[in-house]
Amino acid sequence: MAKIGIFYGSTEGNTERVVTKIHELLGGDAVAALHNVNSSSADDMKPYSYLIFACPTWEIGQLQEDWDSFIDELGDVDYAGKKVTYVGLGDADGYPDTFLDAMGIIHDRIKDKGATFVGAWPTDGYNFEASKGVVNGKFLGLGIDEDNQKDLTAQRVADWIALIKPEFQ
Ligand SMILES: Cc1cc2nc3c(=O)[nH]c(=O)nc-3n(C[C@H](O)[C@H](O)[C@H](O)COP(=O)(O)O)c2cc1C
Repeated sequence: MAKIGIFYGSTEGNTERVVTKIHELLGGDAVAALHNVNSSSADDMKPYSYLIFACPTWEIGQLQEDWDSFIDELGDVDYAGKKVTYVGLGDADGYPDTFLDAMGIIHDRIKDKGATFVGAWPTDGYNFEASKGVVNGKFLGLGIDEDNQKDLTAQRVADWIALIKPEFQ
């Protein structure tokens, strides 16, 4: 079975499009499985060695609404031996003080639970003021801005996949 579980929420479809591409580039169904958090539970996360949590930030620094209901499930997973990374979507021009906050909100829930975190991503080239998604000077995972930098998405995704693929072997 697939060893990578991609858990995502998406209100307007941007995150869904990005994770669909990530799923394809990782090698498709043999390697990775897509789960919308609107119909997932802790049990769905348990079989995977590698987890990607993908969430856009909504309502000024909040989780996307399906993630709001799902986030408590994260507490019921044993992360020992698992590697975790994130994908965050946001709008740096519209919400420069809460850009990609959702990555940080999710990370705060699980950072002390024994997972190994991979896929940190440089903040160069993003025009924002503050983000809970930045830890130690880097985004916790891939940052995507479909509202202002759509033209950079394909390359960012490809470069980030090259970064995490060796971690997810
Ligand atoms: C009302 C509203 C509030 C938003 N708040 C934030 C925010 O606080 N931070 C951020 O980075 N992006 C924010 N965004 C931008 C969304 O995260 C962005 O459009 C994202 O691509 C949506 O992803 P989705 O289509 O998967 O739902 C907001 C957008 C709207 C319409």
